[in-house]
Amino acid sequence: MLPLHPALLSQPDYLFSQIAAAAEEERKRHPHRRVISLGIGDVTQPIAPVAASALRTAAAELATQKGQKGYGPAAGYPFLREAIAAQYADLPCPIPPEEVTVTAGSKEALGALFSLWEPGVPVWVCDPVYPAYRAQAEAAGHPVFSLPCRVENDFLPQPEEAAKPGLIVLCTPNNPTGAALSLVEMTEWVNWANRTGSLLLVDTAYAAFLSGEELPRSIYAVPGAKRCAIEVGSFSKSDGFTGVRCGWVILPRETGCAAAWQRWLGSHSNGTSYPIQRAAEAALSPTGLRQRQKALALYRQNAATMLQMFHKLGLTCAARRPGCLAPYLWVRCPDGPDAQNSWAWFHRLLEGCGVLCAPGAGFGQMGEGWLRFTAFSRPEDTAEALRRMEHFLR
Ligand code: MLT
Repeated sequence: MLPLHPALLSQPDYLFSQIAAAAEEERKRHPHRRVISLGIGDVTQPIAPVAASALRTAAAELATQKGQKGYGPAAGYPFLREAIAAQYADLPCPIPPEEVTVTAGSKEALGALFSLWEPGVPVWVCDPVYPAYRAQAEAAGHPVFSLPCRVENDFLPQPEEAAKPGLIVLCTPNNPTGAALSLVEMTEWVNWANRTGSLLLVDTAYAAFLSGEELPRSIYAVPGAKRCAIEVGSFSKSDGFTGVRCGWVILPRETGCAAAWQRWLGSHSNGTSYPIQRAAEAALSPTGLRQRQKALALYRQNAATMLQMFHKLGLTCAARRPGCLAPYLWVRCPDGPDAQNSWAWFHRLLEGCGVLCAPGAGFGQMGEGWLRFTAFSRPEDTAEALRRMEHFLR
């Protein structure tokens, strides 16, 4: 057998594959008890009716001679690039459609972006953080360093903690901690990046869970960000597209990376499918933006209910800033002998009450001693999981 890439060999399996495998084992052990997943952050509410209707119309169009489509533009159809750009129109740094690329999702986009820079360019990620960042950056040959996120720094590291310039991956609100950057903190990152020649890679997959001007949904709320920031967005969590797959990249000309990105796109991508781009366009229409609120409100309510129960159980939860209703609850493992062993608690909850969460250690060393619970489950499942946990932990 040919040798496999060392970066892949040295990595653990993807956290959510490990979790899914553990859930499967548990189902086999107890076939009569349903496992309730508060593990992977997967949506459970339907996509907006207007987006579903756009999908159907686009599919019907493809079945006609006039509406037939060949390869689409690698960067996306102009109608969707314009609709995405319009979301940024009122910001201090407006984004023209030419700086928007439509992608199959933010995970796919980030994986692609890491290959733009010379292997060896340092990448800084928060710890704990969504594990795909580290895995993707390492696979692209970058040394990856951690920016520790602790209770003491509100889970928000300072720019100066990145000891040398490089690519800094930020996600606001953060997955898994729910920490959201304020406008002041974002401005500090932008100023630091411009001063040191660093580049910010900003993941806004959860931006729909922020409100108010104090917690911006985009890095382009900060003047000067176009010189030092690339932003990645997603319809997954805001519009129920985790399985539909659509996202975008904002890559401003001022970053100096546009030509490399176009070269990458040309040889790696034939774009995202036409019906899905039409559905995404519909999701951003005034009707789509109104219809998405139903699912978002339900997830927020789940998060509030979970927070209340965790407090009632005496568990410590990471604080949230006003205006941040992040869909993940970051909760300290219950006191006791295994308080610093999140995998032990993960298995204890799964085996003891059939509730699946995500162990903090899976998000980085600093996540040890914590557990993540998603608020994306159905309300009735969330309620049942909380009932089971209350019974088990009391
Ligand atoms: C999560 O649960 O962190 C995400 O939903 C996983 C993913 O996007 O792959």
